Amino acid sequence: MREGAKGQDSALVRTLLGQKQVHPPIWLMRQAGRHLPEYRELRAKNKSFLDFCYAPAAAAEATLQPVRRYPVDAAIIFSDILVVPHALGRDVRFAEGEGPLLTPLEGAEDIAKLDLSRLETRLAPVYEALERVRAAMEPERALIGFAGAPWTLATYMIQGRGGERDLARAYAYQHPELVDQLLDVLAVAVGQHLIAQIKAGANALQIFESWAEDIPGHLFARLVTGPIKKAVDIVRTAHPDVPIIGFPRGAGHRVGQFHQETGVNGLGLDIAADLGAARAAVGPTICLQGNLDPMALMAGGAALDQALDAILAAAQTGPHIFNLGHGVVPATPIPHVEHVMKRVKGLA
Ligand code: CP3
Repeated sequence: MREGAKGQDSALVRTLLGQKQVHPPIWLMRQAGRHLPEYRELRAKNKSFLDFCYAPAAAAEATLQPVRRYPVDAAIIFSDILVVPHALGRDVRFAEGEGPLLTPLEGAEDIAKLDLSRLETRLAPVYEALERVRAAMEPERALIGFAGAPWTLATYMIQGRGGERDLARAYAYQHPELVDQLLDVLAVAVGQHLIAQIKAGANALQIFESWAEDIPGHLFARLVTGPIKKAVDIVRTAHPDVPIIGFPRGAGHRVGQFHQETGVNGLGLDIAADLGAARAAVGPTICLQGNLDPMALMAGGAALDQALDAILAAAQTGPHIFNLGHGVVPATPIPHVEHVMKRVKGLA
């Protein structure tokens, strides 16, 4: 039995494989993070965010903090999507209050220098953190490994920072061969990183395409779904049984196309996506995930209950994993998260 067998029979995995549950399993994007006082304390002891991600004991502890506090059905490994460009040899920094900063990738020489051979060695601490979490956590809870999708990683690498995406899209028009080459390398890197996470104990995977938004229809297959499909195929060749969630943030209206072209098991829906339309697009057996607005969670009260009612009703139309449409924000009160857990589990 490989290590990942623990967690394999969890409600989360069964739902991803197409079994609707009476109460949808729940986890929250960014469930580990600044809304928890114990995270802020741990973070203060680990000044550099990347070093924190590469410290197995600290990363495992951050992963487990929300698991101790909330009855979540899954933990997501505490790491970041930008460890992949970093492991390929790009310069990645996290500046206080500014988010990630990268030295922008320019020509063919920069792409040629991306070094796939060092990826798994450089990311060994991430895999060790996964092993520690899987060993410490009950088998009923799944462990989720993740990676950024090739286009989202390429966007950060070309643009050099978060938020803006115009230079990356311009680059795709100006240098089509280079962008295809870059996406190819990234698809292999993502595939390898996900396989290594399975070997370390991940029971399910999520691919974050945080910047699927603003991609014209004629480029969607080339930039978004094609490279994701390549990574998915690499993983499936080695581990056909481990379910994969795709999260095409900003492209909820293309979720049917995204599902068809990538072959993922589950579809993460962003805040704006319509659950009914998504269900109609993918049919009754494919797993959907989402999509409570993190601001409704932060606000609480009647507005939160209304939003929950709508999602819980939609979750009866097929396999569904309860989640947010984007990450928990730091100002979120813990009692609001506890309330959501109770309602989703049918206890309030
Ligand atoms: O709990 C979890 O969800 C697991 C850990 C996780 C982090 N980042 C930790 C983190 C995951 C899954 C990510 C994914 C990630 N990282 C994405 C995809 C999801 C999305 O938001 O669309 C992206 C785009 C990134 C890149 C990134 N990392 C940004 C833009 C930032 C700054 C924003 C911010 O919240 O500060 C980060 C830093 C980061 N990654 C933090 C955490 C907890 C905050 C750093 C800190 O504690 O100082």
